[in-house]
Amino acid sequence: MDNRPIGIFDSGLGGLTGLKALRRFLPEENIVYFADSGRVPYGEKTRVQLRGMARQNLSFLSGFGVKAILIACGTLSSNAGDILAEWPVPAVGVLSSSADWMSRLEGDSPVAVIATAASISSGAYQRALEAACPGRRVLGIPCPDFVPLIESGHTDASDPLVQDAVRRYLQPAREADAGVLLLGCTHYGIIEEAITDFLGSEVTLVSAAESGAAALCSQLLKRKMTGGSGNIRYYTSGDPAVFAEAASLFLGCREEEIHAEAVPPQPIPEG
Ligand code: DGL
Repeated sequence: MDNRPIGIFDSGLGGLTGLKALRRFLPEENIVYFADSGRVPYGEKTRVQLRGMARQNLSFLSGFGVKAILIACGTLSSNAGDILAEWPVPAVGVLSSSADWMSRLEGDSPVAVIATAASISSGAYQRALEAACPGRRVLGIPCPDFVPLIESGHTDASDPLVQDAVRRYLQPAREADAGVLLLGCTHYGIIEEAITDFLGSEVTLVSAAESGAAALCSQLLKRKMTGGSGNIRYYTSGDPAVFAEAASLFLGCREEEIHAEAVPPQPIPEG
């Protein structure tokens, strides 16, 4: 039994898709969630900046005495994955967990990964999937408008702005006849309904966030490190009221249940 909290972070709302999955797998865990909303979007930052920001966020959460960390962010996982190994507690990124998940899928149709511009330009997802799904064509599609749309409250499948962006970005996946689509950015699970409406339910969606949560859970179970009282603390470098409203909508709880505390955004590292 280990009651120390699990740390989860992302540039904003996206990591809540990981938090939700983690709560489904291990509801008793205590969690400290950090939404770096004051510096969103990460997808437009340089690799050097992202690597510095990954270190800053890992250090911030380590200050809470966490027992493990979920980097619920595809952009940091694909640009700073090697940094996780330096951390003294188990730290799971959503890139390697996604590749493991994808390697278990059968079939030979092309697979597509959608993620931020910084994730796709790093090539890390494409390399990991080529190794995990031998013989399958891999398409990497950057979707830079998704995160700003989601962070500004456009998430509904009936929202014309969401529908238009989904159509624009996912047409190549449809044309390539991709049978599997990896949501390589954790924000994208929030607009999953709009994505399924466009691609059809015969296309399998894989959530990087959920794969990360599952990988972290199995590590904790294996090391006998589970335990807690289901307490969640939220911190944001953005506006706590804005975060609480959006988070409560996504998590399906009352706004009053999300006590988000403000922390000043750290300086963006040079580079
Ligand atoms: N949700 C993050 C990801 O998975 C970050 C998106 C962003 O801030 O651009 O990549």
